[in-house]
Parts: sequence; C-alpha cells; structure tokens
Amino acid sequence: MASALTISPIAGALGAEISGVDLSAELSDGEFGAIHQAFLDHHVIFFRDQHGLTPEAHKALASQFGTLNVHPYVQGMAEHPELLEIIKEPEDKVNFGGGWHTDMSFLEKPALGSLLYAIEVPEIGGDTLFASQIAAYEALSDGMKAMLAPLKAVHSASREYSAAGHSAQSRKSMQASTASQAPEFEHPVIRTHPESGRKGLYINPAFTLRFAGMTKRESKPLLDFLFNHSRDERFTCRFRWTRGTLAFWDNRCCWHYALNDYAGHRRHMRRATVNGDRPV
Ligand code: SIN
Repeated sequence: MASALTISPIAGALGAEISGVDLSAELSDGEFGAIHQAFLDHHVIFFRDQHGLTPEAHKALASQFGTLNVHPYVQGMAEHPELLEIIKEPEDKVNFGGGWHTDMSFLEKPALGSLLYAIEVPEIGGDTLFASQIAAYEALSDGMKAMLAPLKAVHSASREYSAAGHSAQSRKSMQASTASQAPEFEHPVIRTHPESGRKGLYINPAFTLRFAGMTKRESKPLLDFLFNHSRDERFTCRFRWTRGTLAFWDNRCCWHYALNDYAGHRRHMRRATVNGDRPV
C-alpha cells in the first residue's frame, strides 16, 4: 500500500522534514520504503512530534536499518547500552558533538547512520548543522577529484578522545573514557555510497589525522583546504529542534555539528547509531 508521507526539503543541498508517520508504531512496508528512499535522497531526515518514542521504540526503529552500535568510549544507558544520553546542563561549557564530524569514522566499519531524539530542547539555540559531503565532492574541480581518487586517510579516536581532546569536558558528563591509544584505520578519501552509488568526500576534522603514507605536517595543508571546502554554506542545512523530533542522518555522506550557543539552558537528546560497512 502506498504511504501518505509528506517529504519537504529544508535546504538546497540536503535535509528534509517528513510528516504523516508515527515512528513509535511498526512501520508498514510502504512507510519503510518511502523513509529509506528519502534518507538516501536527502541524507538527513527529520520527524517532528514523535512524542511516544520510548527507548525500546527508538531501538526498534533504528534496528530496521541495521545492527546497533555500542559506543566503544562513551557509556550508554544502563538498561540500553546502545542508546547514548547526550545531555548538556545549563552550567556545562562544552557540548558533545560541537565540531564538524561524522560519527564513528574511527572504526574499521564506521556508522551507517544515527537517530537522534530530542527529549528536552533549549528555548533558544541548540540547532544542529549538517553538510553534504556528496555536494562538497561534486563541487571540486576534475583535477582535484583525480588527485584525491587514489588517496586514503587515517582515522582514529585518539585525538578527539585524548585527555586534551576538544570535547574533554562534555566527555566527562557523558561518562566517556579516554582513548589515546585507540587504533587507526585507513578509509578512502573519496567514498562511494554503498546504496546510492554516489561519490562523496569521507574525511572529517574530528577523526581524520592524516593522509595514509604521509606525515601530519605534509597532510595538513590539503586537509585544511578540504575541511574548509566541505563546510561551505552551499552544502549545509541548519535544523531547529522542537521537543519530540527525531533526526536520522547518513554518516556515510554527511557531516554534522551541534551548535553550542545556549549557555544557561539544558538540552537532552538520545542517540542510537546503526552500524555500517567498510568504506570503499
Ligand atoms: C552528535 O554529534 O551526535 C550530537 C548532535 C547534536 O546533539 O545535535
């Protein structure tokens, strides 16, 4: 049966709001197909007013897209280790996810996607930015694309999750361990999306340390160029949360950035992460 979903893009490069579905109930085949296609087409999709999404329903929804990840460094909920509570208290200074990144690129098989559910949102601020790495790739010159094509990059949690890592304070409130000895994995700099077949950049400022076979110093100028290019406004969307919204983003082709502009206010989100495959 055809589904009655409404899909409304929110920006030119990526992002769409979807209405007409209750995510706490089992999805029909038609609903699942339409949501899956919208996920591939728009890279990040948003569902407002999903007020009944219990941890069980959140996991059941995420499990329809793959197996669930248990974060190696951040402790999940006691009863639901696959769910991360992402909480920033009014007095906290640093937020979790407050920098451009793609989730879990430091794994051998990085995450397919993440499903983030808004439990409490600040009255002001607390938006999340997303950037399409397919759009970023497509905007490069043919010469740059050809130069990047054979390159691999080294990813690790070792810098971000070191004692001095960017989000050290947020990791404390998130009960995260340090991972200065975390393993390194090489992934292609240009990744072919396993479902859509589209090419996109697959490096990110949080977890990409250097190009494979090069030093950090040698890698830095080109990485800096690509990191700046990849967050160009043309490739982004910005999402204003309301309580009860669920976002589902594709970590294989987009970056995200949780803005830290709501000092003095509380924000409480809950995230499930779906395992992915080895990038090619
Ligand atoms: C994250 O990086 O998973 C957190 C995003 C957010 O809190 O908006």
